[in-house]
Amino acid sequence: MAIANNSLDLRIKRTLLFTMGVFALLFVYYALDFSMRGFTQDLSAETHLYTAGAVLPNTAIFTHMLAGATITFLAPLQLFTPLRQRFPALHRVSGYLFFLSAILTAIGGLGFIAINRTIGGPVMDVAFTLYGLCVLVCCTQTIRFARARNFVTHREWALRVFVLAMGSWLYRIQYGIWFATMGDMGIGENFSGPFDYFQDFAFFVPYLIGVEIYIRHQRAGRPVLPLYATRGLAALSIALLSLGTYAFAPIFFGLR
Ligand code: HEM
Repeated sequence: MAIANNSLDLRIKRTLLFTMGVFALLFVYYALDFSMRGFTQDLSAETHLYTAGAVLPNTAIFTHMLAGATITFLAPLQLFTPLRQRFPALHRVSGYLFFLSAILTAIGGLGFIAINRTIGGPVMDVAFTLYGLCVLVCCTQTIRFARARNFVTHREWALRVFVLAMGSWLYRIQYGIWFATMGDMGIGENFSGPFDYFQDFAFFVPYLIGVEIYIRHQRAGRPVLPLYATRGLAALSIALLSLGTYAFAPIFFGLR
């Protein structure tokens, strides 16, 4: 019975990971397309992120988007156990690519904040800076423990990196869920509404806390939730991710 429960638990986790990986492809496409246009066209009429003639902030933010798309694409693949077990060399190579891209994403984002500040003002500046620093620390630790062949600790840091790498996508998905259920209540001009301020931190802090709880339970050898609750939570997560993706898809495709 315990073995059956374990394999069901595993199937639930893989289904959730697969769903996240597939849905996040829309954001990967959006970020890639945005960065390619930023490198090759004058986007000053379209976005505040492009400043005509300002090579440094433009390079920082569009490199950031390109590298960010890479880590959003690679994060679910790195965590997918069957792939990792079957192709360990691929996991290593894409692990280094992930590491390099994560560093570029963070440095590009942090550099842009230092030069231009964010559109959302000081609260967003602080939150995104904290987010970038978390990415730098967690991905450095992940590689460090992999190289030291301490795979238990490597896996723990990899889980932290995973939620951070998916955070930027989750930020959009959470807005999608909010738009679909609450409209624009709590959303202000230039991200100055109460929901915007909540969002500044809510796309990574709660997930990092969730991972810490999960890691501590794993170390103690006990599950975080009974199986029926894990199942319910996974089903709810997939439903919410579907709603958020559906609501945000027009923005990902540049239709709004
Ligand atoms: C490493 C942590 C990260 C930091 C510090 C960061 C920071 C930033 C900042 C400061 C901006 C400009 C905000 C503004 O003023 O409008 C931005 C925009 C953006 N970032 Fe990141 N970011 C991070 C991770 C990511 C990741 C993982 C992706 C994945 C693709 C990503 C994709 C984007 C995109 C597409 C934009 C353009 C926003 C839009 O108009 O849609 N970022 N980021």
